[in-house]
Amino acid sequence: MELLLRSPLDMHLHLREGALLSLVAPFSARAFAGAVVMPNLVPPVDNLARLRAYRAAIADAVAPYAFTPYMTLFFRPYDEATLAAARAAIIGVKLYPEGVTTNSAEGVRDLEAVEATLTLLERLGIPLLVHGESHGFVLDREAEFLPVYARWAERFPRLTIVMEHITTAAALEVLDAYPNLAATVTLHHLLITLDDVAGGLLNPHLFCKPIAKRPADRDALRAAALRAHPRLMFGSDSAPHPVERKEAAGCAAGVFSAPVLLPLLAGLFASHGALANLQAFVSDNARRIYGITPPDRTITLIHKPWTVPERCGDVVPFYAGQRLEWQVVDPLASAAIAGPGAAIQRGSAPHNPDAQP
Ligand code: NCD
Ligand code: ZN
Repeated sequence: MELLLRSPLDMHLHLREGALLSLVAPFSARAFAGAVVMPNLVPPVDNLARLRAYRAAIADAVAPYAFTPYMTLFFRPYDEATLAAARAAIIGVKLYPEGVTTNSAEGVRDLEAVEATLTLLERLGIPLLVHGESHGFVLDREAEFLPVYARWAERFPRLTIVMEHITTAAALEVLDAYPNLAATVTLHHLLITLDDVAGGLLNPHLFCKPIAKRPADRDALRAAALRAHPRLMFGSDSAPHPVERKEAAGCAAGVFSAPVLLPLLAGLFASHGALANLQAFVSDNARRIYGITPPDRTITLIHKPWTVPERCGDVVPFYAGQRLEWQVVDPLASAAIAGPGAAIQRGSAPHNPDAQP
C-alpha cells in the first residue's frame, strides 16, 4: 500500500546553522517541498543580509532536493523601509516574547510597544508569526497569552496572525473566533501529553516549549487536525539539540521530529480513518493561508515497517528505536536503486507523473 502527498509543507521548522544544519536539513528536504524556517539563531536573523546568507546556507544543505526555505525575520521594531525591502524575501516576521524559549533573549519585553510595527506589517501584507506564551506558570502560559492574540486580531483585522505550535483546546476556540488568525500544530502535540514528558521517568527528548498539556487538549488538537481545520497548518517545530544538551541538568527545550514526521502523521491519520484529510493538513491549508506555491513534488509513503535510529549524528530523534509502519521513499535513493526514470512499485494508488522531484 502507498500514499502520495503533493508538496507537503512544514510550516514551522528549526534548521540551525553549521554542522547541525547540514545534519538535519536533508531529513526535511527529503519529505517536504518547503518549510517555514525559524529565525532564532544566535544572533537572531533580524536583518536582510543575515537572512540572505542563512538562506544560501540552507540551499547548500538541502541540495539537490527541490525544497523552498520560507524565511522569517526575528521580530524587533522595524521601520517601513526595512520591512518593504525585506518583504519579497520573507514569508513573515516571527515574534518571541523575551526569554520564553530557546534563543529568545532578544525577544519582545513590552507587548504594548509592538503595535507600530504591527501596523506596518498589516499595511505591507506581511504575516506575523507568534510564539504565544506568557511568563506565567508553565502549564498556563499559552492560555495567558490568548487575550493578546484576540486583541491584535481585533486591532489589526487585515493582518494575518499565525498562532505557532498551539497546544490547548482554548487556543482552538480563539482561532475560531477571529478570521484573521491561523495556527500551526506540531506532530508531538498531537501524540503526547505532559504524562509522556514527566509522568514517569523524566524524558528530556520530549521536553519542549510550549510544554505538552492534558489529554483533553491533545484530543481537541487531534480532532482539529484530523478534520483538516481550514485555518490549521502542520508545523513540526522540529528543534534539534545535541544529545549532551538534552540529557543534562538544564535540558534544552525542543523535540527533533524531522526524521519521522510524515510516517507518524500517516499512521495517525490512517488509524482514525482520516487519510483523505492529510493532504489539506500538510499542504493545501498552508498554500491557501499564505498564498504560496511550493515546488511541485509528489512524496510517496509506503506501508513498510522500519526502525527509527537511536541517533542521527549526535541528535536523538522523536520515536528513537521504535518501529514505524510507514516510510517515506527518498526520491534520490529510489532513483539510485531503480535507475533514473524507473517506476517505483505501486499498489492501488494511481501513478502520478509529478513523482520525480
Ligand atoms: C525551539 C528551539 O529549540 O529553537 N524549542 C522548542 O522547545 N520548541 C524554540 C521554540 O520554537 O520554542
Ligand atoms: Zn519553534
